[in-house]
Amino acid sequence: MPDDRPNSAIGVLTSGGDAPGMNAAIRAVVRTALLHGWRAIGVENGYDGLIDGTFRALGARDVGGILPRGGTFLHTRRSERFLEPEYQLAAVRQAAAAGMNALVVIGGEGSMRGAHVLAGLGMRVVGIPASIDNDVVGTDVSIGVDTALNTIVEAVDKLRDTASSHNRCFLVETMGRGCGYLAVVAGVVCGAEIVLIPEVESRVTDVLEAVRDANRRGKTNAIVIVAEGARIRIGELLKAIEDADVGFTARASRLGHIQRGGAPTAFDRMLAARLGTKAVQALVEGESDAMAGLNGRSIETVPLSSVVDRRRDLSAEYFEMVKTLAR
Ligand code: F6P
Repeated sequence: MPDDRPNSAIGVLTSGGDAPGMNAAIRAVVRTALLHGWRAIGVENGYDGLIDGTFRALGARDVGGILPRGGTFLHTRRSERFLEPEYQLAAVRQAAAAGMNALVVIGGEGSMRGAHVLAGLGMRVVGIPASIDNDVVGTDVSIGVDTALNTIVEAVDKLRDTASSHNRCFLVETMGRGCGYLAVVAGVVCGAEIVLIPEVESRVTDVLEAVRDANRRGKTNAIVIVAEGARIRIGELLKAIEDADVGFTARASRLGHIQRGGAPTAFDRMLAARLGTKAVQALVEGESDAMAGLNGRSIETVPLSSVVDRRRDLSAEYFEMVKTLAR
């Protein structure tokens, strides 16, 4: 049922690793909440802030100017305390004491698990998927993925310039934790010879063969994308290429946290605007224990129970596409 009690408040927090577009989502949540006559409360430092009651009232002007900024102006954490039932209850009590009738959680897979716990304790909660890893089930894509991919493309394009000048193979490590999405899509859009991802078993010899083939076909460089969660590590591969005769010298580059920063792309800003608006509408209509996600062209809510503790399927089609298009 819609909650039309005067002075109802919607809280908003960001949790887990930051992702470009989180600020845009906060802005959408706050302004949509105000439009519906609710107060908006920003919770700082993720679930730790909910436990500690580090809250601040947010008006329309407080979220002005944050739309193009990467990171999250509410700050974020991976809360160890929130894993314990005692602190989960403390968080619910703090929210109630501040008059928070509803909460929007912006974050990745672990953050959606936290949101599901809070809903189980009686809080009205809706999640918004935001993580560069794209490991959240129930949405085609999470906020931040597009920006991270564009950062990877820019970096790999630059690495290719130097690689082809020196007839080199570059091993490029991308983030993504246990999910190979960033690596496999980067492999397609950057024209890699081969990608190594956690979801698919690969051997060192597969990489040596792919790189050697690229050299035989007359290429001046070879790019290998290695997901940070892949079983074979970038250092091991570098040594194997140096020891083998593949026709290229080799260098390795870990892209690291630059993948998490930067101004969100137009796609991520739009996704954040749509998901933020939908999350608040869902709360106003009395929905809870749900996540707003992108399904094809539409924004829909899905139950959090269908999101948490599930592994996202990797597109085998993209994995094959890397190899096919490398010819
Ligand atoms: O979940 C986002 C992510 O960037 C992962 O891709 C990576 O494994 C991890 O966070 C890095 O975490 P931290 O910021 O704690 O180094």
